[in-house]
Amino acid sequence: MGARKGRAIFLKAFPQGMPTPDLFEIRDYEAPEPKDGELQIRAVWMSVDPYMRGRMRPDIKSYIPPFTLDKPLDGGVVGQVIASRHPDFAEGDYVVGFEGGWRDYATVQGAGVQKVFPALAPLSAFLGVLGMPGLTAWSGLTQILKPKEGETLFVSGAAGAVGSLVCQLGKLKGLRVVGSAGSPEKCAWLEKEAGVDVAVNYKDHKDAAALTKALAKAAPNGVDCYFENVGGMHLEAALNCINNRARIALCGLISMYNLTAPEPGPSNLVNLLARSALMQGFIVSIYVDLAPQFAGEVAPLLAQGKIKFRESVYDGLERAPEAFMGLFKGENFGKAVVRIGPDEA
Ligand SMILES: NC(=O)c1ccc[n+]([C@@H]2O[C@H](COP(=O)([O-])OP(=O)(O)OC[C@H]3O[C@@H](n4cnc5c(N)ncnc54)[C@H](OP(=O)(O)O)[C@@H]3O)[C@@H](O)[C@H]2O)c1
Repeated sequence: MGARKGRAIFLKAFPQGMPTPDLFEIRDYEAPEPKDGELQIRAVWMSVDPYMRGRMRPDIKSYIPPFTLDKPLDGGVVGQVIASRHPDFAEGDYVVGFEGGWRDYATVQGAGVQKVFPALAPLSAFLGVLGMPGLTAWSGLTQILKPKEGETLFVSGAAGAVGSLVCQLGKLKGLRVVGSAGSPEKCAWLEKEAGVDVAVNYKDHKDAAALTKALAKAAPNGVDCYFENVGGMHLEAALNCINNRARIALCGLISMYNLTAPEPGPSNLVNLLARSALMQGFIVSIYVDLAPQFAGEVAPLLAQGKIKFRESVYDGLERAPEAFMGLFKGENFGKAVVRIGPDEA
Protein backbone atom coordinates (compact mmCIF):
# COMPACT_ATOMS: atom_id res chain seq x y z
CA MET A 1 0.00 0.00 0.00
CA GLY A 2 1.32 3.45 -0.84
CA ALA A 3 0.77 6.37 -3.16
CA ARG A 4 0.02 5.32 -6.74
CA LYS A 5 1.46 7.15 -9.74
CA GLY A 6 -0.68 7.77 -12.79
CA ARG A 7 -2.14 10.61 -14.82
CA ALA A 8 -5.04 13.02 -14.38
CA ILE A 9 -6.75 15.72 -16.41
CA PHE A 10 -6.56 19.30 -15.21
CA LEU A 11 -8.14 22.50 -16.47
CA LYS A 12 -5.57 25.15 -17.41
CA ALA A 13 -8.18 27.92 -17.42
CA PHE A 14 -11.94 28.13 -17.09
CA PRO A 15 -13.85 28.15 -20.37
CA GLN A 16 -15.70 31.21 -21.60
CA GLY A 17 -18.47 29.86 -23.80
CA MET A 18 -17.98 26.47 -25.45
CA PRO A 19 -15.03 24.59 -23.88
CA THR A 20 -12.06 24.08 -26.23
CA PRO A 21 -9.32 21.39 -26.21
CA ASP A 22 -6.52 23.84 -25.31
CA LEU A 23 -8.09 24.35 -21.85
CA PHE A 24 -7.42 20.75 -20.79
CA GLU A 25 -4.08 19.21 -19.86
CA ILE A 26 -3.03 15.71 -18.87
CA ARG A 27 -0.44 15.70 -16.07
CA ASP A 28 1.24 13.23 -13.75
CA TYR A 29 -0.87 12.66 -10.67
CA GLU A 30 -0.30 10.53 -7.61
CA ALA A 31 -3.27 9.04 -5.75
CA PRO A 32 -2.31 9.34 -2.07
CA GLU A 33 -1.91 6.35 0.20
CA PRO A 34 -5.37 5.60 1.64
CA LYS A 35 -6.04 6.54 5.25
CA ASP A 36 -8.52 4.83 7.56
CA GLY A 37 -11.93 4.68 5.86
CA GLU A 38 -10.46 5.23 2.39
CA LEU A 39 -9.89 3.11 -0.70
CA GLN A 40 -7.49 3.38 -3.55
CA ILE A 41 -9.00 2.44 -6.88
CA ARG A 42 -7.81 1.76 -10.40
CA ALA A 43 -10.21 3.59 -12.70
CA VAL A 44 -11.93 1.41 -15.27
CA TRP A 45 -14.64 3.75 -16.60
CA MET A 46 -15.29 7.44 -16.01
CA SER A 47 -18.29 9.55 -16.76
CA VAL A 48 -18.55 12.88 -18.52
CA ASP A 49 -21.74 14.74 -17.67
CA PRO A 50 -23.24 18.09 -18.66
CA TYR A 51 -23.32 19.30 -15.01
CA MET A 52 -19.52 19.42 -15.07
CA ARG A 53 -19.77 22.53 -17.25
CA GLY A 54 -21.45 24.28 -14.32
CA ARG A 55 -18.48 23.39 -12.11
CA MET A 56 -16.26 25.30 -14.56
CA ARG A 57 -17.86 28.60 -13.53
CA PRO A 58 -16.07 29.60 -10.32
CA ASP A 59 -18.01 32.88 -10.20
CA ILE A 60 -21.42 31.22 -9.82
CA LYS A 61 -22.60 29.73 -6.54
CA SER A 62 -24.28 26.42 -7.23
CA TYR A 63 -25.37 23.21 -5.54
CA ILE A 64 -21.87 21.77 -5.97
CA PRO A 65 -18.52 23.55 -5.50
CA PRO A 66 -16.67 24.69 -8.62
CA PHE A 67 -13.57 22.89 -9.92
CA THR A 68 -10.22 24.47 -9.10
CA LEU A 69 -7.23 24.68 -11.41
CA ASP A 70 -4.81 23.11 -8.93
CA LYS A 71 -6.67 19.80 -8.62
CA PRO A 72 -7.72 17.27 -11.27
CA LEU A 73 -11.20 17.52 -12.71
CA ASP A 74 -13.59 15.25 -10.87
CA GLY A 75 -16.69 13.17 -11.44
CA GLY A 76 -18.24 9.74 -11.61
CA VAL A 77 -16.02 6.69 -11.86
CA VAL A 78 -16.23 2.91 -11.80
CA GLY A 79 -13.04 1.43 -10.49
CA GLN A 80 -11.48 -1.66 -9.00
CA VAL A 81 -10.20 -1.50 -5.44
CA ILE A 82 -6.42 -1.91 -5.33
CA ALA A 83 -5.99 -1.04 -1.63
CA SER A 84 -8.60 -0.83 1.10
CA ARG A 85 -8.67 0.67 4.56
CA HIS A 86 -12.43 0.34 4.84
CA PRO A 87 -13.91 -2.83 6.36
CA ASP A 88 -16.68 -3.16 3.73
CA PHE A 89 -14.35 -3.30 0.73
CA ALA A 90 -11.63 -5.70 -0.33
CA GLU A 91 -9.01 -5.62 -3.04
CA GLY A 92 -10.55 -6.62 -6.35
CA ASP A 93 -14.05 -5.26 -5.56
CA TYR A 94 -15.62 -2.98 -8.14
CA VAL A 95 -17.12 0.29 -6.92
CA VAL A 96 -18.93 3.29 -8.35
CA GLY A 97 -18.65 6.79 -6.92
CA PHE A 98 -19.40 10.41 -7.78
CA GLU A 99 -15.80 11.46 -7.12
CA GLY A 100 -12.47 10.19 -8.37
CA GLY A 101 -12.98 10.43 -12.12
CA TRP A 102 -10.66 12.08 -14.69
CA ARG A 103 -7.59 10.14 -13.41
CA ASP A 104 -5.99 6.72 -13.63
CA TYR A 105 -5.91 6.10 -9.89
CA ALA A 106 -7.98 7.72 -7.16
CA THR A 107 -8.12 7.64 -3.40
CA VAL A 108 -11.73 7.93 -2.28
CA GLN A 109 -13.84 7.68 0.85
CA GLY A 110 -15.29 4.20 1.30
CA ALA A 111 -18.48 5.86 2.60
CA GLY A 112 -18.82 7.69 -0.74
CA VAL A 113 -18.86 4.66 -3.04
CA GLN A 114 -21.01 1.61 -3.62
CA LYS A 115 -20.08 -1.88 -4.73
CA VAL A 116 -21.12 -2.87 -8.25
CA PHE A 117 -21.15 -6.32 -9.75
CA PRO A 118 -20.06 -7.06 -13.32
CA ALA A 119 -22.40 -10.06 -13.40
CA LEU A 120 -25.44 -7.74 -13.12
CA ALA A 121 -24.62 -5.42 -16.03
CA PRO A 122 -21.62 -4.11 -17.96
CA LEU A 123 -19.59 -1.97 -15.54
CA SER A 124 -20.10 1.19 -17.61
CA ALA A 125 -23.89 0.89 -17.12
CA PHE A 126 -23.39 1.91 -13.48
CA LEU A 127 -22.45 5.37 -14.79
CA GLY A 128 -25.49 5.52 -17.07
CA VAL A 129 -28.74 3.62 -17.13
CA LEU A 130 -28.14 2.05 -13.69
CA GLY A 131 -26.31 5.07 -12.30
CA MET A 132 -26.82 8.77 -11.69
CA PRO A 133 -28.47 9.53 -15.07
CA GLY A 134 -30.77 6.54 -14.64
CA LEU A 135 -31.84 7.68 -11.17
CA THR A 136 -32.38 11.17 -12.60
CA ALA A 137 -34.65 9.86 -15.33
CA TRP A 138 -36.63 7.59 -13.02
CA SER A 139 -37.04 10.18 -10.24
CA GLY A 140 -38.07 13.05 -12.50
CA LEU A 141 -40.68 10.80 -14.06
CA THR A 142 -42.03 9.07 -10.97
CA GLN A 143 -41.62 11.80 -8.34
CA ILE A 144 -42.47 14.94 -10.31
CA LEU A 145 -44.33 14.10 -13.52
CA LYS A 146 -46.33 11.21 -11.99
CA PRO A 147 -47.88 10.32 -15.35
CA LYS A 148 -51.18 8.53 -15.74
CA GLU A 149 -51.72 5.89 -18.39
CA GLY A 150 -52.83 7.38 -21.69
CA GLU A 151 -51.24 10.77 -21.07
CA THR A 152 -48.72 12.35 -23.45
CA LEU A 153 -45.10 12.80 -22.37
CA PHE A 154 -42.67 15.04 -24.24
CA VAL A 155 -38.94 14.49 -23.61
CA SER A 156 -36.18 16.76 -24.90
CA GLY A 157 -32.63 15.46 -25.19
CA ALA A 158 -34.46 12.19 -25.80
CA ALA A 159 -31.56 10.17 -27.22
CA GLY A 160 -29.21 11.01 -24.35
CA ALA A 161 -28.40 9.15 -21.15
CA VAL A 162 -31.29 10.59 -19.14
CA GLY A 163 -33.77 11.19 -21.96
CA SER A 164 -33.58 7.72 -23.49
CA LEU A 165 -34.55 6.10 -20.19
CA VAL A 166 -37.36 8.60 -19.55
CA CYS A 167 -38.82 7.77 -22.97
CA GLN A 168 -38.73 4.03 -22.40
CA LEU A 169 -40.10 4.17 -18.87
CA GLY A 170 -42.84 6.40 -20.25
CA LYS A 171 -43.76 3.80 -22.87
CA LEU A 172 -43.79 1.06 -20.21
CA LYS A 173 -46.25 3.20 -18.22
CA GLY A 174 -48.62 3.33 -21.18
CA LEU A 175 -47.98 6.90 -22.29
CA ARG A 176 -47.84 8.46 -25.72
CA VAL A 177 -44.21 9.56 -25.90
CA VAL A 178 -42.77 12.27 -28.12
CA GLY A 179 -39.01 12.77 -28.05
CA SER A 180 -36.79 15.40 -29.58
CA ALA A 181 -33.19 14.85 -30.59
CA GLY A 182 -30.62 16.39 -32.88
CA SER A 183 -30.05 13.93 -35.74
CA PRO A 184 -32.00 11.61 -38.06
CA GLU A 185 -30.06 8.60 -36.67
CA LYS A 186 -31.04 9.46 -33.11
CA CYS A 187 -34.67 9.96 -34.14
CA ALA A 188 -34.72 6.65 -36.03
CA TRP A 189 -33.35 4.83 -32.96
CA LEU A 190 -35.93 6.48 -30.71
CA GLU A 191 -38.81 5.34 -32.90
CA LYS A 192 -37.51 1.91 -33.92
CA GLU A 193 -35.60 0.75 -30.84
CA ALA A 194 -36.80 2.80 -27.89
CA GLY A 195 -40.42 2.61 -29.04
CA VAL A 196 -41.30 6.32 -28.86
CA ASP A 197 -44.36 7.27 -30.84
CA VAL A 198 -42.86 10.26 -32.64
CA ALA A 199 -39.29 11.57 -32.62
CA VAL A 200 -38.76 15.14 -33.77
CA ASN A 201 -35.38 16.31 -35.07
CA TYR A 202 -35.29 19.77 -33.50
CA LYS A 203 -32.57 20.84 -35.89
CA ASP A 204 -35.17 20.76 -38.69
CA HIS A 205 -37.00 23.57 -36.87
CA LYS A 206 -35.45 26.99 -36.82
CA ASP A 207 -37.32 28.52 -33.91
CA ALA A 208 -39.85 27.92 -31.13
CA ALA A 209 -42.80 28.59 -33.45
CA ALA A 210 -41.65 25.91 -35.91
CA LEU A 211 -40.90 23.45 -33.09
CA THR A 212 -44.33 24.16 -31.58
CA LYS A 213 -45.98 23.17 -34.87
CA ALA A 214 -44.02 19.92 -34.99
CA LEU A 215 -44.80 19.16 -31.36
CA ALA A 216 -48.49 19.94 -31.77
CA LYS A 217 -48.62 17.51 -34.68
CA ALA A 218 -46.75 14.81 -32.76
CA ALA A 219 -48.91 15.34 -29.65
CA PRO A 220 -52.41 15.94 -31.04
CA ASN A 221 -53.97 15.63 -27.57
CA GLY A 222 -51.52 18.13 -26.06
CA VAL A 223 -48.66 17.56 -23.63
CA ASP A 224 -49.46 16.41 -20.08
CA CYS A 225 -45.88 15.83 -18.95
CA TYR A 226 -42.69 17.47 -20.15
CA PHE A 227 -39.26 16.18 -19.13
CA GLU A 228 -37.01 19.18 -19.80
CA ASN A 229 -33.34 18.55 -20.55
CA VAL A 230 -32.60 21.37 -22.96
CA GLY A 231 -34.33 24.73 -22.38
CA GLY A 232 -34.56 27.62 -24.87
CA MET A 233 -36.92 26.99 -27.75
CA HIS A 234 -37.78 23.54 -26.38
CA LEU A 235 -39.28 25.00 -23.22
CA GLU A 236 -41.15 27.62 -25.20
CA ALA A 237 -42.58 25.00 -27.58
CA ALA A 238 -43.56 22.72 -24.70
CA LEU A 239 -45.30 25.56 -22.87
CA ASN A 240 -47.26 26.27 -26.06
CA CYS A 241 -48.59 22.70 -26.08
CA ILE A 242 -49.26 21.91 -22.41
CA ASN A 243 -52.67 20.78 -21.24
CA ASN A 244 -54.49 21.83 -18.09
CA ARG A 245 -52.70 20.56 -14.99
CA ALA A 246 -49.61 19.60 -16.99
CA ARG A 247 -46.38 18.84 -15.10
CA ILE A 248 -42.92 19.89 -16.17
CA ALA A 249 -39.80 18.33 -14.61
CA LEU A 250 -36.98 20.82 -15.06
CA CYS A 251 -34.02 18.48 -15.14
CA GLY A 252 -31.52 20.32 -17.32
CA LEU A 253 -31.07 23.29 -19.63
CA ILE A 254 -28.12 22.17 -21.70
CA SER A 255 -28.70 24.67 -24.49
CA MET A 256 -27.81 27.40 -21.98
CA TYR A 257 -24.70 25.94 -20.28
CA ASN A 258 -22.20 27.60 -22.62
CA LEU A 259 -23.92 30.96 -23.02
CA THR A 260 -21.77 33.92 -22.08
CA ALA A 261 -24.79 36.16 -21.45
CA PRO A 262 -28.13 35.05 -20.00
CA GLU A 263 -30.83 34.26 -22.51
CA PRO A 264 -34.28 35.82 -22.00
CA GLY A 265 -36.68 33.31 -20.47
CA PRO A 266 -39.60 31.81 -22.38
CA SER A 267 -42.00 34.50 -23.60
CA ASN A 268 -45.02 32.32 -22.82
CA LEU A 269 -44.58 31.54 -19.12
CA VAL A 270 -48.15 32.76 -18.72
CA ASN A 271 -49.24 29.36 -20.02
CA LEU A 272 -48.11 27.80 -16.74
CA LEU A 273 -50.62 30.04 -15.02
CA ALA A 274 -53.38 29.73 -17.58
CA ARG A 275 -53.19 25.91 -17.61
CA SER A 276 -52.73 25.52 -13.84
CA ALA A 277 -49.52 23.68 -14.66
CA LEU A 278 -46.62 22.76 -12.39
CA MET A 279 -42.94 23.23 -13.19
CA GLN A 280 -40.48 21.80 -10.70
CA GLY A 281 -36.71 21.81 -10.90
CA PHE A 282 -34.70 19.11 -9.20
CA ILE A 283 -31.20 17.88 -8.54
CA VAL A 284 -30.98 14.11 -8.47
CA SER A 285 -29.20 14.06 -5.11
CA ILE A 286 -32.50 14.89 -3.37
CA TYR A 287 -33.73 11.48 -4.47
CA VAL A 288 -30.68 9.48 -3.47
CA ASP A 289 -32.68 7.63 -0.80
CA LEU A 290 -34.84 6.25 -3.60
CA ALA A 291 -31.85 4.66 -5.35
CA PRO A 292 -32.72 1.12 -4.13
CA GLN A 293 -36.30 1.50 -5.37
CA PHE A 294 -35.01 2.79 -8.72
CA ALA A 295 -32.52 -0.06 -9.07
CA GLY A 296 -35.16 -2.60 -8.00
CA GLU A 297 -37.41 -1.42 -10.81
CA VAL A 298 -34.99 -0.62 -13.61
CA ALA A 299 -32.35 -3.38 -13.25
CA PRO A 300 -34.89 -6.20 -13.91
CA LEU A 301 -36.32 -4.29 -16.90
CA LEU A 302 -32.81 -4.04 -18.28
CA ALA A 303 -32.11 -7.73 -17.65
CA GLN A 304 -35.38 -8.66 -19.38
CA GLY A 305 -34.44 -6.55 -22.42
CA LYS A 306 -37.44 -4.27 -21.85
CA ILE A 307 -35.11 -1.28 -21.63
CA LYS A 308 -32.34 -0.60 -24.09
CA PHE A 309 -29.41 1.66 -23.64
CA ARG A 310 -26.70 3.02 -25.86
CA GLU A 311 -23.25 4.30 -25.03
CA SER A 312 -20.68 6.39 -26.82
CA VAL A 313 -17.37 4.93 -25.68
CA TYR A 314 -14.20 7.01 -25.80
CA ASP A 315 -11.07 4.93 -25.33
CA GLY A 316 -8.33 6.32 -23.11
CA LEU A 317 -8.16 8.92 -20.36
CA GLU A 318 -6.64 11.36 -22.84
CA ARG A 319 -9.94 11.35 -24.76
CA ALA A 320 -11.99 12.49 -21.75
CA PRO A 321 -11.95 16.19 -22.77
CA GLU A 322 -13.18 15.24 -26.26
CA ALA A 323 -15.95 13.13 -24.71
CA PHE A 324 -16.95 16.00 -22.43
CA MET A 325 -16.95 18.64 -25.17
CA GLY A 326 -18.94 16.29 -27.42
CA LEU A 327 -21.89 16.49 -25.02
CA PHE A 328 -22.51 20.07 -26.11
CA LYS A 329 -22.31 19.22 -29.82
CA GLY A 330 -24.57 16.17 -29.71
CA GLU A 331 -21.66 13.86 -30.53
CA ASN A 332 -22.71 11.30 -27.95
CA PHE A 333 -25.53 8.90 -28.69
CA GLY A 334 -26.73 7.61 -25.34
CA LYS A 335 -24.40 7.79 -22.34
CA ALA A 336 -20.91 9.18 -22.97
CA VAL A 337 -18.31 7.13 -21.08
CA VAL A 338 -14.53 6.96 -21.15
CA ARG A 339 -12.72 3.65 -20.83
CA ILE A 340 -9.61 4.23 -18.73
CA GLY A 341 -8.45 0.69 -18.11
CA PRO A 342 -9.45 -2.92 -18.74
CA ASP A 343 -12.38 -4.35 -16.76
CA GLU A 344 -10.05 -6.94 -15.25
CA ALA A 345 -6.58 -6.00 -14.07
N1 LIG B 1 -31.09 17.63 -12.46
C1 LIG B 1 -30.18 16.68 -12.33
O1 LIG B 1 -29.87 16.21 -11.22
C2 LIG B 1 -29.52 16.15 -13.56
C3 LIG B 1 -28.78 14.94 -13.54
C4 LIG B 1 -28.25 14.47 -14.75
C5 LIG B 1 -28.43 15.20 -15.91
N2 LIG B 1 -29.13 16.36 -15.87
C6 LIG B 1 -29.37 17.15 -17.08
O2 LIG B 1 -30.06 16.32 -17.99
C7 LIG B 1 -29.72 16.70 -19.31
C8 LIG B 1 -29.24 15.48 -20.07
O3 LIG B 1 -28.06 14.98 -19.44
P1 LIG B 1 -27.39 13.63 -19.96
O4 LIG B 1 -26.34 13.28 -19.01
O5 LIG B 1 -28.45 12.66 -20.30
O6 LIG B 1 -26.68 14.13 -21.30
P2 LIG B 1 -26.93 13.55 -22.75
O7 LIG B 1 -28.33 13.85 -23.13
O8 LIG B 1 -26.48 12.14 -22.80
O9 LIG B 1 -25.93 14.41 -23.63
C9 LIG B 1 -26.17 15.73 -23.93
C10 LIG B 1 -27.06 15.87 -25.19
O10 LIG B 1 -27.68 17.14 -25.14
C11 LIG B 1 -27.99 17.53 -26.45
N3 LIG B 1 -27.63 18.95 -26.63
C12 LIG B 1 -26.42 19.51 -26.42
N4 LIG B 1 -26.48 20.83 -26.69
C13 LIG B 1 -27.76 21.08 -27.09
C14 LIG B 1 -28.45 22.24 -27.51
N5 LIG B 1 -27.83 23.42 -27.60
N6 LIG B 1 -29.76 22.13 -27.85
C15 LIG B 1 -30.38 20.94 -27.77
N7 LIG B 1 -29.79 19.81 -27.38
C16 LIG B 1 -28.49 19.88 -27.05
C17 LIG B 1 -27.18 16.65 -27.39
O11 LIG B 1 -28.07 15.78 -28.07
P3 LIG B 1 -28.77 16.16 -29.48
O12 LIG B 1 -28.04 15.41 -30.54
O13 LIG B 1 -30.16 15.71 -29.29
O14 LIG B 1 -28.62 17.65 -29.66
C18 LIG B 1 -26.27 15.87 -26.47
O15 LIG B 1 -26.01 14.58 -26.95
C19 LIG B 1 -28.68 17.80 -19.18
O16 LIG B 1 -29.34 19.05 -19.29
C20 LIG B 1 -28.13 17.61 -17.80
O17 LIG B 1 -27.59 18.79 -17.27
C21 LIG B 1 -29.66 16.85 -14.72
